[in-house]
Amino acid sequence: MRTPIIAANWKMHKTTGEAQDFMHELAGLLNKGNLEVVICPPFPLLGLVAEAGSKYGIFTGAQNMYWETEGAYTGEVSPLLLKDLNVTFVIIGHSERRHLFGETDQQVARKIKAAFAHNLTPILCVGETLQQRQAGETMAVVSEQVNVALTGLDPSQVRRMIIAYEPVWAIGSGLAATGKDANEVAAQIRKTVAEMFSLKVARDIRIQYGGSVKPENIMEFMQEAEIDGALVGGASLAADKFAAMINRVAGEAVS
Ligand code: PGA
Repeated sequence: MRTPIIAANWKMHKTTGEAQDFMHELAGLLNKGNLEVVICPPFPLLGLVAEAGSKYGIFTGAQNMYWETEGAYTGEVSPLLLKDLNVTFVIIGHSERRHLFGETDQQVARKIKAAFAHNLTPILCVGETLQQRQAGETMAVVSEQVNVALTGLDPSQVRRMIIAYEPVWAIGSGLAATGKDANEVAAQIRKTVAEMFSLKVARDIRIQYGGSVKPENIMEFMQEAEIDGALVGGASLAADKFAAMINRVAGEAVS
């Protein structure tokens, strides 16, 4: 059985005070069953979120990192520093990193390796653009992204990581994929992992859907066989909305 995992990607939002209020409010609203909750705040808020989260059984994730441990890399943040702040997860290859900051599949692969080397659990983001979807290239694009990112990893690492399927056109657009379409791509991701490693690894790996997830549609994704969680941007910024999503998933997991 794969444990559901719901992650908040705050992107470049919230101040210290807002993050403190959020954590306090969320803790009061949560009715968390057997599922994992992760908050991914901007770098300066990681320590605060990790400290508050540890009291409530909530994990902390970074939104990005560099692959070197330390050195003359102005403006970058290392996996060593993330570990030092009690961070557990790290989002790698988010589409905003790829499209706004030019991150390549090869850089994504180096970051995934570095995350494992420091005992951080990567949340690898993959997904096609609207143009690629319209050209019928979705499966090929996603398989290639998974392939490059996971090449050279140990099966024992891969089975522990998370892959988030996030169609680029669905992110922040209010236009989510359908549960059925997202499930098909998640199945393709599992197939790619099975071909690269084994059926066992493919069965163990957890796959999230991300892109305009909100309380009203989260169960459409969670009820699909291949989808184990959600990576939530906009709708994760309000504690009541984020708690509503978690409570819905937890309620379903219990019954
Ligand atoms: P969204 O973002 O929920 O605002 O669409 C998702 C993401 O970018 O991870």
